[in-house]
Amino acid sequence: MLEMTHRLDTFFKPKSIAVVGASSNTTKIGHAALKNILISDYDCKVYPINPHEEKILGEKCYKKLTDVPGKIDLVLISVPAKIVPDIMLDCVSKNVENIIIISSGFSEVGNHELEKRLEEIIKKSKMRVLGPNVMGYKNASIGLDASFVYGNPRKGNVALISQSGALGIGMIYLANNEFMGVSKIIGVGNKIDIDDDDLIDYFAQDPETKVVGLYIEAVKEGRTFMNSIKACDKPVLVVKAGRSRAGARATASHTGSMAGSDDIYSAAIKQAGGIRCRDIVELFDMAKALVGQPPLKGNKIGIVTNGGGLGILLTDACEENGLIIPKLSKKTHKKIDDILPDLISPNNPVDLSADAGFLRYELATSALLEDPNIDGVIVASVHGGYARPEEFTGAILKMIRERKLHEEYKKPIIATWVGGREYEDLVLDLKASGVPVYPSAWRTARTMVGLYLEGQRVKREKSK
Ligand code: ACO
Repeated sequence: MLEMTHRLDTFFKPKSIAVVGASSNTTKIGHAALKNILISDYDCKVYPINPHEEKILGEKCYKKLTDVPGKIDLVLISVPAKIVPDIMLDCVSKNVENIIIISSGFSEVGNHELEKRLEEIIKKSKMRVLGPNVMGYKNASIGLDASFVYGNPRKGNVALISQSGALGIGMIYLANNEFMGVSKIIGVGNKIDIDDDDLIDYFAQDPETKVVGLYIEAVKEGRTFMNSIKACDKPVLVVKAGRSRAGARATASHTGSMAGSDDIYSAAIKQAGGIRCRDIVELFDMAKALVGQPPLKGNKIGIVTNGGGLGILLTDACEENGLIIPKLSKKTHKKIDDILPDLISPNNPVDLSADAGFLRYELATSALLEDPNIDGVIVASVHGGYARPEEFTGAILKMIRERKLHEEYKKPIIATWVGGREYEDLVLDLKASGVPVYPSAWRTARTMVGLYLEGQRVKREKSK
């Protein structure tokens, strides 16, 4: 375990990198991989390898790996599949510690024999190997891009593992759009060596990572996978694809994986303390909340809204997902009643009425947070035509960014809104400030479920 952690350290923070199949041809993947490393804001030695070139992108080029004078921590391989075993043998001779095999053409296209040859070479060596059939990784924590794809994630605290390269790239752009910061994002492809469990173990001890998110099509060693989730003292969010029969068929041709029984996956992830998410959007929704908000200690939710309909939708979505919207205690009722116009009597969901402004939002949310019978609060707004949206977003920014009420009360505050363009810029401000905010009652409730499941996991760990 200790040795493995150390080995992935040189994998994620290499002092020297070689690209085999580096090319001057700007359309080649080997060109893009080398360029991404060179333009990274990260200091390390870089060695292009190509038998026909003297220099690529201004860097001295070596004919083969074994010609490189110094030690090589990481090798990226971007040559046709049939040459890959020979390159790996060169890596063994050169005592290379880590390899990323970008090349495809292995088990995902039925070429199991060739993949087996790679596995045999790995077995006889001490190398750690990512792939084949991968994009590589982007280590946003240190600014290193060891992939061939475009897109720079915003630096943050969510580590993402994707069995699909293309989806991994999509996740980078979606994360940026959502202002969700990423520590590392990595494609695992056919997983002949470095597997999800190795990465969960690494991210569990990575100080830059607070939440781990995975997109998987299949796991190779179920028991090890579960043990890694169990041992990880951080939330682990899992999207497992191939739920349907046709979806399972598609995973076989994508990464050569057997999707397995979906119910068994669900039970295993739950038992290990992970959280299964429906899709990437749900994973991101939960990750954004888990990074900045405390987990829910219980399942009782308070809702503050300026629209009765939105309050009911939130109530339904919460209760359908096992959360409770309790009646207000007399004390809380009085506190909120005092700030509302005479004709309105508060309940939970608390309808602040359509003209609710900054102060009503702030005082009602504070009253709910003070209530021991409430574990977390949803602050909601619909553009009803009376109140200005800035009043709603301003109140949230004050409560979360300035007053940090979620930290003071150790209860999460998340937000939801229904409206059009006039809200969007304001909501972007919230997202940029790390406020978990969602455009639907269902997504908001599911995020609360994520915070609740994490609270349960923490409770179980403490009671051990
Ligand atoms: N050592 C070093 N370089 C070599 C060697 C060798 N032994 N032999 C050949 N080369 C050079 C070639 O001369 C070439 O350089 P050049 O452009 O200067 O001539 C370079 O290596 C690449 O070799 P090519 O034969 O030109 O191969 P090409 O670049 O067309 O394809 C690749 C290689 C990209 C690995 C391809 O086989 C492949 O697998 N593509 C798919 C990759 C992929 O999609 N992976 C999954 C990613 S996940 C996702 O979906 C994003």
